[in-house]
Amino acid sequence: MNVFSGIQPTGAKHLGNYAGGFRQYVATQDEAATEAGEAFFCIVDLHSVSVEHDPVDLRERTLDLFAMLVATGLDPERSAIFAQSHVTAHAEANWLLSNVTSFGELRRMTQFKDKADAQEFVSAGLFTYPVLMAGDILLYQTDVVPVGVDQRQHVELTRNVAERFNSRYGQTFKLPRGVYPEIGAKIMDLQEPEKKMSTTGGTEAGTVYILDSAEEIQRKFKTAVTDSGREVLHAEDKPGVSNLIEIMTVATGESIEAVQSRYDGQGYGTFKSEVAQAVIELLQPFQQRFHEIRDDAGELHRLLAAGAEKARAASQPTLDAMYERMGFVRLS
Ligand code: AMP
Ligand code: TRP
Repeated sequence: MNVFSGIQPTGAKHLGNYAGGFRQYVATQDEAATEAGEAFFCIVDLHSVSVEHDPVDLRERTLDLFAMLVATGLDPERSAIFAQSHVTAHAEANWLLSNVTSFGELRRMTQFKDKADAQEFVSAGLFTYPVLMAGDILLYQTDVVPVGVDQRQHVELTRNVAERFNSRYGQTFKLPRGVYPEIGAKIMDLQEPEKKMSTTGGTEAGTVYILDSAEEIQRKFKTAVTDSGREVLHAEDKPGVSNLIEIMTVATGESIEAVQSRYDGQGYGTFKSEVAQAVIELLQPFQQRFHEIRDDAGELHRLLAAGAEKARAASQPTLDAMYERMGFVRLS
């Protein structure tokens, strides 16, 4: 079973990324190993330039993200952790696949619509972003793609593109399947719980970053929006409290029911401060490891190079097959 996921280096990483991303990467890394598969975790720096970005920031954030992936539990010996721009197959697959993806399909992508609304300059790259993502996944004969639910539409598009390519040019790609966490697939903003936690769409005070200090975390939970009433209950009409319950289950591994019954009748004040405490305890070891890894630039570059090498070797046969089947002359 091969696993592939991608994560953007720009934008500070937050609790939503942990719940829908990092946490699942580690779990699927272990599954891939038990089923004799390979796991690939890609820092999608090429995706990050589809919106306005600062070059200095991109470079720093790419190294930050590598350190964060390792700090949260990925093992560079067992998995290939690499930067997308280091493996040119991704840019090549992007072009080839853009010719088996329709304008109409891309126009329906809700993430494009949301992001385009927030940009003054809407790049062509932002529009074709899902094609680059499809290539990422398909190049590795991926079975499983661990992501948050915001990526569901992109994973479905990837399957459609793969099927179209296979039927036009012959069986080339496996059809990948998205896996979404049962709880915590969409962590919401603490201030505006109808929006997902995000560095682009959410609020600053309602976004808990993985590198936030204990004081910042306490403050953000303390001012978190709750709902009318007093019960700690996971319910449709209680988006604020439901989100806090989900965050608690992500932090401690408990079930929703266990959290509800523990805080039964205690009101929101205690609950919020204990969720904050659980999050602090979850994040502290990551923060410590993050700084140890991030401070060793030589080792970081060495590990990135090793990851790129594994990824190149794994993706090249599929890229070659794509060129071959589409009818390009190959120089042997
Ligand atoms: P990004 O930082 O946008 O590249 O996202 C990295 C991973 O985090 C993807 O798998 C997303 O689906 C996931 N993710 C982003 N925001 C959230 C959120 N608020 N809740 C759960 N998962 C999320
Ligand atoms: N689009 C994804 C996001 O914003 C990141 C991504 C790029 C990705 N390529 C991928 C995720 C391949 C999974 C598989 O979160």
